Amino acid sequence: MEKNYKRTLVTCALPYANGPVHIGHLAGVYVPADIYVRYLRMKGEDVLYVCGSDEHGVPITIKARQQGCTPQDIVDRYHKIIKDSFAGLGINFDIYGRTSSKVHEQNSSEFFRKLYDEDKFITRESEQYYDPEAKTFLADRYIVGTCPKCGAEGAYGDQCEKCGSTLSPEELINPKSKLSGAEPVKKKTTHWYLPLNNYESWLSEWILSGHKEWRSNVYGQCESWIDGGLQPRAVSRDLDWGVPVPVEGAEGKVLYVWFDAPIGYISNTQELLPQSWGKWWKSEDTKLVHFIGKDNIVFHCIVFPSMLKAYGDGYILPDNVPSNEFLNLEGDKISTSRNWAVWAHEYLEQFPGKEDVLRYVLTANAPETKDNDFSWKDFQTRNNSELVAIFGNFVNRAIVLTHKYFGGKVPAAGELQDIDREALAEIPALRASIEKNLEGYHFREALKDAMGIARVGNKYISDTEPWKVAKTDMERTATILNVCLQICADLAIVFEPFTPFAAEKLRKMLDVCICAGVDHRKGEQETVNTFKEGECAARHTVSAPSGADIAAMSASCPGAGKCVCLSWDKLGQENLIPAEHQLGAAELLFAKIEDDAIDAQLKRLADIKAEREAAAAAAAAEEAAKKIEPQKAEVTFEQFDAMDIRTATVLAAERVPKTDKLLKLSIDTGIDQRTIVSGIAEYYSPEEMVGKQICILANLAPRTIRGIESKGMILMARQGDGKMRFITPQEALVNGAQIG
Ligand code: MF3
Ligand code: ZN
Repeated sequence: MEKNYKRTLVTCALPYANGPVHIGHLAGVYVPADIYVRYLRMKGEDVLYVCGSDEHGVPITIKARQQGCTPQDIVDRYHKIIKDSFAGLGINFDIYGRTSSKVHEQNSSEFFRKLYDEDKFITRESEQYYDPEAKTFLADRYIVGTCPKCGAEGAYGDQCEKCGSTLSPEELINPKSKLSGAEPVKKKTTHWYLPLNNYESWLSEWILSGHKEWRSNVYGQCESWIDGGLQPRAVSRDLDWGVPVPVEGAEGKVLYVWFDAPIGYISNTQELLPQSWGKWWKSEDTKLVHFIGKDNIVFHCIVFPSMLKAYGDGYILPDNVPSNEFLNLEGDKISTSRNWAVWAHEYLEQFPGKEDVLRYVLTANAPETKDNDFSWKDFQTRNNSELVAIFGNFVNRAIVLTHKYFGGKVPAAGELQDIDREALAEIPALRASIEKNLEGYHFREALKDAMGIARVGNKYISDTEPWKVAKTDMERTATILNVCLQICADLAIVFEPFTPFAAEKLRKMLDVCICAGVDHRKGEQETVNTFKEGECAARHTVSAPSGADIAAMSASCPGAGKCVCLSWDKLGQENLIPAEHQLGAAELLFAKIEDDAIDAQLKRLADIKAEREAAAAAAAAEEAAKKIEPQKAEVTFEQFDAMDIRTATVLAAERVPKTDKLLKLSIDTGIDQRTIVSGIAEYYSPEEMVGKQICILANLAPRTIRGIESKGMILMARQGDGKMRFITPQEALVNGAQIG
């Protein structure tokens, strides 16, 4: 059922401030959300766009410990890096807050306290691991031991990174505290739980009956959680980093990060709009949309809604929770711990001016319905053969030719021919499809259709060849270029959500402006960017108190009626740019990406992979070395005594020609001098052997190896990985001393 909303509140999952964001985060959450917000704003809708850092949780405390600093230092550092990366990519939230803020501490405490006072929680006593030396409870991640599944050392209490198994601390063999190294003991502790089971039928009604339109991955996960039977979920933890549980006798306990973080959406709204935040969170006229990754589904569809339901007080629920699958990198799972990622802040440094290329490629490959892959070759191809060769090339030809033949003034169109009308007619159809896809959160398809408009233009200019027509028919040339420039104006509108930097550049070339809707970044004072700064001669913004009518605000702009002002509703309409309008200078919209830039990225990844493989091989060898052969079948004393084992010294040694493994050794056995051929060349050079006292089995029946008669055998100790060492008496003895 389509509701008639008055405004849209868009939230993006709050990234953990324990590392920078990478392309997986961008493709999964932030780029699609940004497209959606920009689109709605161009339609003149009132949108609030909220995000911020998630600054609590155990991994942050672990990182701080590793780096010998405080958790606050960690979150301060990454909050800044992440915030700057978003801004660099044109992802401009109205507020990018943080859960370590005062507002949030108060707000989340108050939230807990109300549920506590109203008996919405239950308490449960459980046994948790405790470090008796550090005198603190241990989160699962703080317990390490041997993996019961694969035998790897250093597996965590919740997961083995080696084999990927999910574990519980009880399963670890030989568990140790990461803090003190002490063996953890079980200790009783009490926590508060939200009894999700009480909300089961309500959730089922709301989601399973009421939101069948949600993406199948989201709906499916909800269904399996609800059908599986919901359990009470702990909302507190024994930890010293987080929002303290605001209850007497709860010393050493904080709110569980997944309890406080989603409340962060509300806190951040309050921080930005201390007076008017309520209309965003407590009005049925607000459409709430959470953009998240698939690992966040249960928290946003089951846990947080249950919290809000328990709280009451008019909080609204999400209308939709578009959630993406995962993005892989060059065929491998993105992994922060293995450094297998493309980091947003590094990309921005390495590819200045190419923010849009990343946005474009991540959208074109968005993992909307299944996991998808990012590869640098594809990145290059999409830039060079789509953005440069189609979009950029068309715009450039249209604008350069207009400068060449008409002094940069939009030429008036004469009578349209079929080919002109046909090209123009494609745009409204594409617009309809784009809108349908954007409103249904199918960003990838929407981008395909937007690119479709560029393809229409590029094909039109190639088919009509104005550079040839200009030699004979200037009137027809004028018409063709007029049509081209109208399509350019369409592109300046339609690409604003997807590639905002290029769209802005294009508007500058066309000298047109765009209505970008209400901007809430200044807090209670709303601003309408009717004319984006720096884009047109007028360059005005209009401010008005919260709640003012947008259309009226736009009309009151001093530039209204003077500038060519575009907005989404103009897309596909006739005559977006009037004849005689003077264009700005032509610039290239996109630049080709050369092989060396791509090769450098591939080399970086290959190096990471090689390093990882070398480390894995070393670890495997270490494991193999430890492999001990079982005992051989029993022998009698007589059998043992029959073997003549003695000390001997190597007099000379040489490689057996044409072999890798064999050394020919000349040995002084005390009894005689003889030749023994031994397969130790992999482990010892001839020089290393000469002069060494060793032990031999002297009475082994002679054998001929490679034409050399070998009499006896050198005693060697061999490890599981094949490594061999000869045996030497602890102190030099005469040669021929018997061993046994
Ligand atoms: N920090 C979480 C993650 O990166 C997301 C938190 S979303 C919120 O997976 F709702 F809790 F804020
Ligand atoms: Zn394992």
